[in-house]
Amino acid sequence: FVVPPVLSPSGTQAVACSDGQMREYDRYDVSQTFSVATIMPGYKTPFFGYNGVTPGPTIVNRRGRPVVVHQTNLLHRPPASAPNAAVPSKYSSDPLDRWTSTHLHGSASLPQYDGYASDVTLPGRTKRYVYPNCQEARTLWYHDHGVHHTSQNAYNGLAGMYVLHDDVELSLGIPQGPYDVPMVVKDVMLDTKGGLIYEDNSESGAFGDIVLVNGVPWPAMPVEPRKYRFRILNASVSRSYEWQLHDGKSAVPMTVIGTDAGLVPQPQVVSSLRHGMAERYEVVIDFAPYAQKPGKAAAKLTLKNLGPKNNVAEATALYAMQFVVGPESSVQSTENNSIPTLWNSAVAPQECMTWTEAGLLAQGVTQRRFAFVRTNGHWTINGETWQDVVDSDYTHCMAEPDQGAVEIWELANTSGGWFHPVHIHLVDFQVLSRNGKASLVRPHEKGGKDVVYVGENETVKVAMRFSGPSAGEGWQVPKGRYMMHCHNLVHEDHDMMMQFSVGDPDH
Ligand code: C2O
Ligand code: CU
Repeated sequence: FVVPPVLSPSGTQAVACSDGQMREYDRYDVSQTFSVATIMPGYKTPFFGYNGVTPGPTIVNRRGRPVVVHQTNLLHRPPASAPNAAVPSKYSSDPLDRWTSTHLHGSASLPQYDGYASDVTLPGRTKRYVYPNCQEARTLWYHDHGVHHTSQNAYNGLAGMYVLHDDVELSLGIPQGPYDVPMVVKDVMLDTKGGLIYEDNSESGAFGDIVLVNGVPWPAMPVEPRKYRFRILNASVSRSYEWQLHDGKSAVPMTVIGTDAGLVPQPQVVSSLRHGMAERYEVVIDFAPYAQKPGKAAAKLTLKNLGPKNNVAEATALYAMQFVVGPESSVQSTENNSIPTLWNSAVAPQECMTWTEAGLLAQGVTQRRFAFVRTNGHWTINGETWQDVVDSDYTHCMAEPDQGAVEIWELANTSGGWFHPVHIHLVDFQVLSRNGKASLVRPHEKGGKDVVYVGENETVKVAMRFSGPSAGEGWQVPKGRYMMHCHNLVHEDHDMMMQFSVGDPDH
């Protein structure tokens, strides 16, 4: 079991804010590289990574401390250690086609820093992103979003975690430091030489038969018999999971403490949890009851995937990793070792979680409906594709909420036989109902979210405020064009993605 390295700032940089003032921010430098790794012993796998690794290094920040990240695209250069390495499949031989755009998923970034799909960075170029870090503590991730290449670029390795802490979250006594563990899960397929196979099954999805956790196939993690917090990210292109922790006899409960937008209003104990692509769930697991007894073998707990519907079935994808529990004497620290059953009053729920559907309707908030459908051989939203946005010179918007407006959006999956994890940029939302029933919102979904699983023939209603926090001191509140799309990245690339414009009546 490995944990991705944490990236250190390379220094500070003066940044011109929208008020014209210069402010000093921590600066991070990231290169998008064509590299080679060993995923399966004895085989070399060419991949695209951030700073030469996949998942990319974790960026860890504190709320209220904006940063600037320089992303340099070096994907045209062959790996230094293997100059003749085969380029991952499905790229043309022209290295300039390896364009990228970096999205910090979960951040209310200004539009120019949001990884807009068509705002691409060509090989050899650098783009500077400013991240406000003004939201509540949460688990974010950065990944590629380059138009029509998102799926391959992310599949080939361009994804990493980004953790935002705040004072409240750090004061709760929940596991921290070495007991706060990122877990980036994705499935891949390798050819007989070790190369990544990207097979998009005629644009329906790209699946693999190897489950990687932090880049390692089916790892085993030695744990101390105490509590741990896991930040689970489903970084798969098309596969969703239904996690269950199992001790060989029965399911072991997990406590969901966080969703996409940070701490949930109320921790939820679950025996399994469905995990669509791009969703983040923070769970606390207590290994104390499994402490190894003298002279006995260590207990092994398996993180199983109960395999929700509509994924390509692979028996090897029905489990992800194991936890091997050490003896009492292996416990290094008993600090921050609680699972809250109820938060203390320090945790204010995200604003979106304080609303009720009836209350919003009584206020007369705007409601909109978006159908996720297959139209004329393309994945579309209301019959339109990202190509329509491109063809309109990027002016076409499917919705124009006012800045600061609260709205209810109905996301209807009428495409039959597919699920679509729908992601709305910029906002945190509450999932109000599924097929008209609040009771069909699962316990683990009861927190601020930015992706929601819309199963086949389902209609899901979500509520959000357009433009949440300001982008920080010196910056205007976010305004402009943002995307909504299916996070099955193959669907996104072909072309189930639209844009909406916040507070911008010119579009
Ligand atoms: Cu995680 Cu628009 O993306
Ligand atoms: Cu989809």
